[in-house]
Amino acid sequence: MDDILILGIESSCDETAASVVKNGREVLSNVISSQIDLHTLYGGVVPEIASRKHIEKINQVITMALQEAGVTLDDLDAIGVTYGPGLVGALLVGVAEAKAIAYAKKLPLIGVHHIEGHVSANYIEHPDLEPPFLCEIISGGHTHLVIVKDYGEFEILGRTRDDAAGEAFDKVARAIGLGYPGGPKIDKAARDGDPEAISFPRTHMGVSTRANATYARGVHDTEAYDFSFSGLKSAVLNYLNKCQMTGQEWNQADVAASFQQAVVDMLVDNAMRAAKDYHMKKFAIAGGVAANTALRKAMKEACEANHLEFYYPSPILCTDNAAMIGTAAYYEYLRGARSGWDLNAVPNLKLGER
Ligand code: KG4
Ligand code: ZN
Repeated sequence: MDDILILGIESSCDETAASVVKNGREVLSNVISSQIDLHTLYGGVVPEIASRKHIEKINQVITMALQEAGVTLDDLDAIGVTYGPGLVGALLVGVAEAKAIAYAKKLPLIGVHHIEGHVSANYIEHPDLEPPFLCEIISGGHTHLVIVKDYGEFEILGRTRDDAAGEAFDKVARAIGLGYPGGPKIDKAARDGDPEAISFPRTHMGVSTRANATYARGVHDTEAYDFSFSGLKSAVLNYLNKCQMTGQEWNQADVAASFQQAVVDMLVDNAMRAAKDYHMKKFAIAGGVAANTALRKAMKEACEANHLEFYYPSPILCTDNAAMIGTAAYYEYLRGARSGWDLNAVPNLKLGER
């Protein structure tokens, strides 16, 4: 079979990214233009600014991706683009760009689900990884525990009821004066702190029983493996308030480490329960929070203890990038998925919806 070259485009939040991926697993280029510095001024992502910056950057980023890969638009076999979920204005920039290139070059257009992209980052890093496997997708907008039944086919076991894990990192970082982006800053600060200094609560939605697992199989909106992070976030805020009211000093590194440990415990516990209940042999993590040092270490240990093969992308492929979109688009391409010229940005796109 001839090589399949796909241009992946990603603009769902605050990264403008383009990548050329060969045969789904070989990344020829991976260009990411981050807007972090711009949004730091405001303590978080400002959607209108994000959209404008995407417009400014997207052509440049695509040109660089093609150059680095040593190809031209004429060499491509398809264009893959994130069309949801994400910020509507930001998504629209990528979708419009992808449509324009695909139309002009008469190439197939493939709309990609952002979470499917995150999962696919693991295929790049691990050439041997194939479905089925259990995957926990932990990002700024999502926390999902899914069984990847086949390429592009997911059974959702659990999702967050309130905040996403990354959102909790970002909010707590702001509260303890670390600022945006919270995840990497807490990761770093926590290295000097004691994870057992403060006992923050762990929220567990389900209990680990076989009946529960069977129940979960048949019911779409199951609760057994759901996540909740808002209680933990409130506990941190209450702790800070209490310290302030009583004139007690608090230690930034200890709060960061103790909060992080609570998140890690919840993420590890849910994943290991599901792996056991569903007799999974392989487990992967994905999404921005999967770059977290403490989480990677804890997951590795838990997987060893539970005889699970553990897969995780390198940090640059955990946070938003277009290589993961190119890879996801490749498998969609193989299964014959093609988007029409009416492809639109879908900010609340659910996993599994097409
Ligand atoms: O996957 P991603 O780049 O964007 C979304 O799809 O949301 O994830 C961004 C999230 C942010 O909340 C960020 O704080 C978090 O991932 N994050 C981290 C780390 N690096 C990024 N959280 C914890 N530790 C990290 N090292
Ligand atoms: Zn993402």
